[in-house]
Amino acid sequence: MQLSHRLRALAALLAVVGGPLSVHAAQESAASISASSAPASILSSALSSVSASAVSSASVVPSSAPTSAPVSSSAAVSSSAPGPSSSAPVSLSSVLSSAPASLSSVISSAPASVSVSFSAASSASASASISSVASTPISASSAFISVSIPASNASISASTTAPPSVSVSASAAAAGSPSFNSGTGTETGPITVPLSEYTFSSFPVASSTPIPKVFVPVTPANPPPVSSDEIPDFAQAWADAYEKAEAFTLGLTVPEKVNVVTGVGWENGRCVGNIPAVGEWPGLCLEDSPLGVRDTDFNTAFPAGITAASTFNRSLIRTRGAFMGAEFKGKGVNLALGPMMNMGRVAQGGRNWEGFGADPFLSGAAAYETVLGLQSSGVQATAKHFINNEQEYKRTQESSNVDDRTEHEIYVAPFLQAVRAGVAAVMCSYNLVNDTYACENNRTLNQILKGELGFRGFVMSDWSAQHSTLSAVAGLDMSMPGDIDLGSHTSWWGPNLTAFVDNSTIPDSRLDDMVTRILASWYFLGQDAPDFPPVSFNAFNNNDPATNQHVDVQGDHWTVVREIGAAGTALLKNNGALPLNKPKNIAIIGSDAADASMGPNGFSDRGGDDGILAMGWGSGTANYPYLIAPVDAIQDRAVQDGTDVNWWFLDFNTAGAQTAAFGFEAAIVFANADSGEQYITVDGNAGDRNNLTLWHNADNLINAVAEVNNNTIVVVHSVGPCILEAWIENPNVTAVLWANIAGQEAGNSIVDVLYGDFNPSGRLPYTIAKSPSDYPAQPTGGGGPNDIISVPYTEGLFIDYRHFDAQNITPRFEFGFGLSYTTFAYSNLRTSTIAQQDHDSTQLEQAWAKGEATPNVEGASTAVWLHRPAFEVTFEVKNTGPVAGGEIPQLYLHSPDSSEPPSLLRGFADVLLSPGESQTVRITLSRYDLSVWDVDAQGWRKPSGAFQISVGASSRDFRLSGTLPV
Ligand code: NOJ
Repeated sequence: MQLSHRLRALAALLAVVGGPLSVHAAQESAASISASSAPASILSSALSSVSASAVSSASVVPSSAPTSAPVSSSAAVSSSAPGPSSSAPVSLSSVLSSAPASLSSVISSAPASVSVSFSAASSASASASISSVASTPISASSAFISVSIPASNASISASTTAPPSVSVSASAAAAGSPSFNSGTGTETGPITVPLSEYTFSSFPVASSTPIPKVFVPVTPANPPPVSSDEIPDFAQAWADAYEKAEAFTLGLTVPEKVNVVTGVGWENGRCVGNIPAVGEWPGLCLEDSPLGVRDTDFNTAFPAGITAASTFNRSLIRTRGAFMGAEFKGKGVNLALGPMMNMGRVAQGGRNWEGFGADPFLSGAAAYETVLGLQSSGVQATAKHFINNEQEYKRTQESSNVDDRTEHEIYVAPFLQAVRAGVAAVMCSYNLVNDTYACENNRTLNQILKGELGFRGFVMSDWSAQHSTLSAVAGLDMSMPGDIDLGSHTSWWGPNLTAFVDNSTIPDSRLDDMVTRILASWYFLGQDAPDFPPVSFNAFNNNDPATNQHVDVQGDHWTVVREIGAAGTALLKNNGALPLNKPKNIAIIGSDAADASMGPNGFSDRGGDDGILAMGWGSGTANYPYLIAPVDAIQDRAVQDGTDVNWWFLDFNTAGAQTAAFGFEAAIVFANADSGEQYITVDGNAGDRNNLTLWHNADNLINAVAEVNNNTIVVVHSVGPCILEAWIENPNVTAVLWANIAGQEAGNSIVDVLYGDFNPSGRLPYTIAKSPSDYPAQPTGGGGPNDIISVPYTEGLFIDYRHFDAQNITPRFEFGFGLSYTTFAYSNLRTSTIAQQDHDSTQLEQAWAKGEATPNVEGASTAVWLHRPAFEVTFEVKNTGPVAGGEIPQLYLHSPDSSEPPSLLRGFADVLLSPGESQTVRITLSRYDLSVWDVDAQGWRKPSGAFQISVGASSRDFRLSGTLPV
């Protein structure tokens, strides 16, 4: 009888390791394979001995029905694998079954290539696409091989007597490490899971004796005030939380511990991620997004991260975090899945708008304030996506190949600040980093995050970004949502993790550490309080009266939404057209000014561009409780001013727009550009933007209106930079406002700026170029459906404005740029050192001053002495114009070394001044702010030479300069 079924997943994971963690290698001469997620009977009959010199096959024994629940088993296979110096090929067999399987093996060898073949006997048919096959030597005598075949790419139809087979062969040959940045296109290098040599102990965060007003022992509920000199020291709060967590963990069985670290599976709970209750511990609700509570109602839709960053205003960013945190907690959420801190490496990156722009200092400051704010309200924050998840195209099949210095100074930087702020969780990303998946990457998770940064919280996987059971030893602490593929009802962990712990492949101590980290984070936020709200919504069925209690958590949070929408708007051009002053009549042009015809939430996860654009699309969204369109807000104002209003929303009918705009005192053209997460495609854009042009014919619309109206004002709502060359120099375009994506109050926010109720002070958190090719990096394309592509970060440290500065490329609008309705004068720059009060760290500080790198010990990168204010820059800012307004003075550091980026943002402030008023502005710098990452010493080091600084209104508008007394 012919049996046919769908092979839902096959993943063979073959480890060839000779390092200290190679439990089997150290103890056995034969390799050992443990297989999971397949019925024992299948595995034991399928696994066979293999020889070192020939590829052998394993039988596929189809089962009569797909396995619906995870099962686990283990079996042994003998192998005569060659020793470290051998160049003979080794081969291992894998097994196909109806259930997902994973295999691991330990053989001491250093294979240079791996191949997988899939074959079927004549009476059977089978196919499988292999998504990743690779190996990497991790030392002269060891290497790791990984092979995976995703569920969606494999199917099998076979007779029981002639089953298909899969063979995996690894041939040992040339030594040598894979080269990084080896070129674009299909990844030819290896994909690996280097097994950690890590000891699995929790490490103490370096901490100094508390010094009043400098290092302040704090809890998440009581963070230091915004912009104070106080360095929060969470060490004691973590220690208290760990004590409770360790005590609780002691009483758990292995399966109970496994439940704490494994999600219940996609859509099996009321939140987007769920950890089940264990004993008296209630479990966890994890919910998106970085701009508000997703998938519910009676919540606030806050401005996106990019808009918050554009304010350059720490108080507003902290308040936004605190208000969002209150809403998450109010809905019963334990973990808010934000902030998002990827770096906007490529301008088209689909999810850049969720983050804080293209400068690591700005992004770090915004991440720091957001985490402090969120956690001050009692919700655990999740810093994501760790790391190098910089494009949506092939996000699960791209290796971001990044050098160590760039990784530390650009991409880790915001995560470092989140750790300093006491972030409870970090989400590892979908992509590979230097050929290893980010959720099983010993280097980034164990060494950098938990080691150098001393991160004491836990690492969760992005949804289905986990690729192996052994990811536990590479630093992953929680599997989200718990199943291998969404809804597959299979898991890399669950019973498989139990089996791996039972057979000592994964040490008990590692499982204990995972559980302790998760529980400690819960205690750290005080979520053991009996009055912590229960989950009161259903992310998967908002309309279910039994599970959605419609708890209203909005408070008056709309006020800060409106303010950030205005404060995050940058005035890019103004020939005197703005602010509007009781205009006689105005024409409003463009669909971006209008209400969405399908309602504010008409597109699922905002996956459409219709009407006012106030957030991008994907999981980084929330439902709007309401959405104020510009046309509505302008009309409210028109009632007060007695202004006649006309409008035209048909973007592609430019003749109609001209008719509507002709003869009006001002024509305001609203335009936008949208992007999002790759699981939704909008107008042919699969997450990343296809180009940097404005959407909906906006260039033509603007020029057409400007042809008939010499006071054409342009307002752009955009997820990121756009090319504006088609109309920016048109003399009839008299003003341009860059409004980002502003959340539910978008219309009111822009009216506040247009009419001068809010004097614009927003600044660009990225560069707007004249041409797309001016940017240092483009999205990487190519690759077949099963290929892993290379994304070489060859621009290194030179992302965004650093590249434009170094290459002398004139941008259209530079990073940090934004005008005001008033003017400011800068004067009297002074620099000094800040008196030393921390005698514990005197030696470290003296070593740093001599140019020695910081010690390579756990927590060294977040040590309080390295981050305390050490240098002070003061100057005067005076409002020299006619109206009150806010200024954003920025401090840039210049390296004496011409091979370094010419200017680096290292400080900013926000000042609000009445006409004629002056204020002394003080910006402090830490030793970390002046340091570079020393790749050889693996520490932060002061470069030699003088530290020149400039202070001014943008990255190219310097008004004062000086030298730091270092
Ligand atoms: C995948 C996204 O990348 C992540 O940001 C999000 O939190 C999870 N899905 C859960 O929705």
